[in-house]
Amino acid sequence: MPYSSVFVLTGAGISAESGIKTFRDKDGLWEGHSILDVATPESFQRNPTLVNEFYNQRRSQLLGGDVHPNLAHIALAEFETNFNGDFVLVTQNVDNLHERAGSTAALHIHGSLLHGKCGYCEQGFDIIKDMDHQGSCSTCNKSGALRPDIVWFGEMPKHMQKIEEAVYRCDLFVSIGTSAAVYPAAGYSDLARQLGAKTVELNLAPSEKSGDFDKSILGPATQLVPQFFQELLKQ
Ligand code: APR
Repeated sequence: MPYSSVFVLTGAGISAESGIKTFRDKDGLWEGHSILDVATPESFQRNPTLVNEFYNQRRSQLLGGDVHPNLAHIALAEFETNFNGDFVLVTQNVDNLHERAGSTAALHIHGSLLHGKCGYCEQGFDIIKDMDHQGSCSTCNKSGALRPDIVWFGEMPKHMQKIEEAVYRCDLFVSIGTSAAVYPAAGYSDLARQLGAKTVELNLAPSEKSGDFDKSILGPATQLVPQFFQELLKQ
């Protein structure tokens, strides 16, 4: 194995074949909804019911029984088990398909559909049912600001220090199923490459950064990801 530290960044494309819509593809979520209506702190202040409803639908689809981890999620979990070196998995996805496939330490840079928080005191909690902002917070007792613990546009992404340390450490950076449209995640491959890591993109269609990777392989995640990571273990 030529690499001792592998960093993987996943985006909505890895969950597309599990039946979860991406954001920017044709028929993606941002075609049917305005980001300004459902994915900013201002939109929550303006219409918390609409915003919670949007994420309630996503959560109930995720937990409804029709959505399962696919071969790409499973391949990454297997790689984590079989690779002897340092492995960091960062996902922009708010689903739990990496965990359901067996990944034990995925860092959710944009939060999770299965966590909520109080907009006043920031106290977090697990949530598997529909959320209503009107409930009261069990920590600060204020009501009216219960929201999904999802990083909206204009908010600070999660686990930044841990992620940046891992980008600095890695000697192989693999980006899977992301359009590379949203920063800081979109900038990590550049940083890794500048620091000497090999960078590879596995994506269905060219992303905004395809030309900047050492190698860009196009195809569906369920084919490319198992192939790539099984091959890597044999090297
Ligand atoms: N296999 C591999 N890649 C795929 C597949 C597939 N089956 N289907 C789609 N893709 C690719 C698309 O070609 C596209 O480049 O996945 C990418 C999805 O891009 P986006 O919809 O922009 O999703 P993502 O990059 O994860 O978005 C980043 O934007 O709105 C925010 O917070 C949201 O985390 C999200 C962030």
